[in-house]
Amino acid sequence: MLRVGIIGCGDIANLNVLGYLRSQETELVAVSDTDLQVAGKKLERWGLRTVPIYEDYKKMIDREDLDIVEILTPHHLHAPMTEYCAKAGVPGISVQKPMAHTITDCDNMIRVCEEENVKLKLYENFRFYPVYLRAKILLEQEIIGEPLNFRINTVAHGGPSMAIDMKAFLWRRNFENCGGGMWIYDDGIHKLSMALWLMDQEKVDELYSWIDYFTTVQDSPSLLFWKYPSKELDDPPKYGSMQFTLAPNVYYPSNYYDCDEFIEISGTKGMMWLNQCTSGGNIISKTPQYPPIVVYSGGEVKSYGEELPRDWRYSFINSTEHFISAIQEGSNPIYTGEQGKNLCIFAKMPYVSTQKKRIVRWEEITSENEQNGSCNINDPVETDGGTLIKYLNRIRKDLKKGIQEGLQHKEFKYQYDL
Ligand SMILES: NC(=O)c1ccc[n+]([C@@H]2O[C@H](COP(=O)([O-])OP(=O)(O)OC[C@H]3O[C@@H](n4cnc5c(N)ncnc54)[C@H](O)[C@@H]3O)[C@@H](O)[C@H]2O)c1
Repeated sequence: MLRVGIIGCGDIANLNVLGYLRSQETELVAVSDTDLQVAGKKLERWGLRTVPIYEDYKKMIDREDLDIVEILTPHHLHAPMTEYCAKAGVPGISVQKPMAHTITDCDNMIRVCEEENVKLKLYENFRFYPVYLRAKILLEQEIIGEPLNFRINTVAHGGPSMAIDMKAFLWRRNFENCGGGMWIYDDGIHKLSMALWLMDQEKVDELYSWIDYFTTVQDSPSLLFWKYPSKELDDPPKYGSMQFTLAPNVYYPSNYYDCDEFIEISGTKGMMWLNQCTSGGNIISKTPQYPPIVVYSGGEVKSYGEELPRDWRYSFINSTEHFISAIQEGSNPIYTGEQGKNLCIFAKMPYVSTQKKRIVRWEEITSENEQNGSCNINDPVETDGGTLIKYLNRIRKDLKKGIQEGLQHKEFKYQYDL
């Protein structure tokens, strides 16, 4: 039985724990959180009331002889916690995205884990969402030929959705804790992961972005577009793009966060549409117009994946199960530390591009350039009272408009504590 410990029992712990609760091969033997009440409530919810809680994660690591540790804390803690756990001899470390604030920290985490013979996993769960796994198989079967263009739109809707702990918003608003904005450098890591994996790429060559509004509240609406490298001389050019759309007054029930994702991939022989991820299973999923996968190819439109679970939790369960088997078999986790670092490079490019108002190349985002300050993300704009009022007014205006147009969900609902 593999002994598992969790550091950070916040919102996402409810999902990260699922794979362990279902597993016959693991036992959750301890948790750590500086907020003992939060940890106690989670254990109660998971039916594990007798599991010990440590306020100090180092004590848990020193005493519990863990095989696997899950690091589910604010971003600035990922690097020091990984280093401590690796040096203390925990053989399997799974750290939630983004891997760290800086490429220097990512490099250090990778080096320490290599030196200590530790398996380091960057936990990015979209990579295991059942619909996306099926889409990847179809793409590998060349159902749309060679993929040429990738597009993903994240729409941040108005809920109703799962309750989020206010603390989870507060640390994200603090640049020192979050390392970037709460869309691109946080949620965006998942989307950038899809942009690489589904397109069978390890990196992009160059990227240009437009982040409308990078403040301590939001780094969205935003639009990013990039070019993939050519593997062969005669490869067709390949591009990708990503949008974050704020639509807080759209009524859009979700079991999880207030957002959903829509992907379109165009290939040399056809097109593929992937409808929904985070909020899969809701009203939209239940309509025949929105099957999970739609493919146009050879003069025919077909849908796929309707028998698959359209529930985001399975992306977590599958990801955790994969890590358990990687530890048992000694194989590589998905993602490795190097791949996790690549996602940080990708996610930093948009901020640097918007700051410098130019195209940014992948090679610019390095540890060396962090030392000379040429690729660092500037602090976001502090939102003063005036900006906040303007922002709130805009949202209220949107809502009013929605009600006039027959919006059912009339409650003023905006998740962010401004
Ligand atoms: N995969 C996903 O889809 C997804 C979604 C949300 C969050 N996340 C990631 O999960 C991580 C946690 O995010 P969250 O939303 O659960 O945040 P959260 O604020 O809800 O939870 C973080 C927890 O860490 C605890 N904590 C802080 N400092 C600690 C310390 N020194 N020792 C032990 N515990 C400490 C806090 O008390 C809190 O309970 C982040 O990396 C975030 O990006 C991933």
